Amino acid sequence: MVRAFVAPSAMTENQDWEEAWEYGFFAWHRPSWNPSLLRFFPLLNHDAGTKVLVPLCGKSRDMEWLLRQGYQVVGLEISGAAIEDFFRERGLEYSKTIRSGVTVWLGDNIEIWEADLFALPDAMTDATAFYDCGAFIALPPAQHGAYVENLMRLAPQLQSGLVMGLEYDQSLVAGPPWSINPEYVREKWGSWFESAELERDWDSSESARMNDKGERYAHLTIRLDRR
Ligand SMILES: C[S@@+](CC[C@H](N)C(=O)[O-])C[C@H]1O[C@@H](n2cnc3c(N)ncnc32)[C@H](O)[C@@H]1O
Repeated sequence: MVRAFVAPSAMTENQDWEEAWEYGFFAWHRPSWNPSLLRFFPLLNHDAGTKVLVPLCGKSRDMEWLLRQGYQVVGLEISGAAIEDFFRERGLEYSKTIRSGVTVWLGDNIEIWEADLFALPDAMTDATAFYDCGAFIALPPAQHGAYVENLMRLAPQLQSGLVMGLEYDQSLVAGPPWSINPEYVREKWGSWFESAELERDWDSSESARMNDKGERYAHLTIRLDRR
């Protein structure tokens, strides 16, 4: 089952994330593919060869799954250490180039931009699909509107994607990850996308406790289709 990630509550600055990677703190990183990705991404019916944008990708193994399905992957991550790990841990060859002032790590059918989502040029990619796993919810609510606007600015041709997150009582546990729910996603993404709830799975197992108060959380998968 999908685990919650727990990060220090002060992770709001880019530097905090970069330091977390430098010091080997990445509790959110999943050692295996996300079962909800395998279950729900095929429902979007994207052909092999489709470019899939993975914002705030870390070194997610899910990018490897997308590659194996024949998609082209476009990652975006602020930490060069995370990107290097992604290639190195798989023994994948890469080269680096600079595009519009951004360092881009290039592999076979994959490119990962080493950049701040909020500081990228317009229309960096013609990706039509996206996979947001723990990206939206990694950022504080005050940045959620800007996150969506920036995503659409960088990738204006996006047609559909998945947003995955967690829902829990934010008054009892501080983010990140920040709690979301289907209504909230509709509100924040609604200028661009219709949303449909695919999964809202309240996990009551012992491992689903977010802290010693035994707080419960739901795994949430929302499908988004361009209006
Ligand atoms: C919670 S992690 C999720 C990583 C990945 N999606 C996964 O599922 O393993 C959030 C990631 O976003 C990156 N990040 C945070 N703020 C960013 C920003 N403004 N621009 C680009 N990447 C950012 C962090 O370095 C971190 O790798």
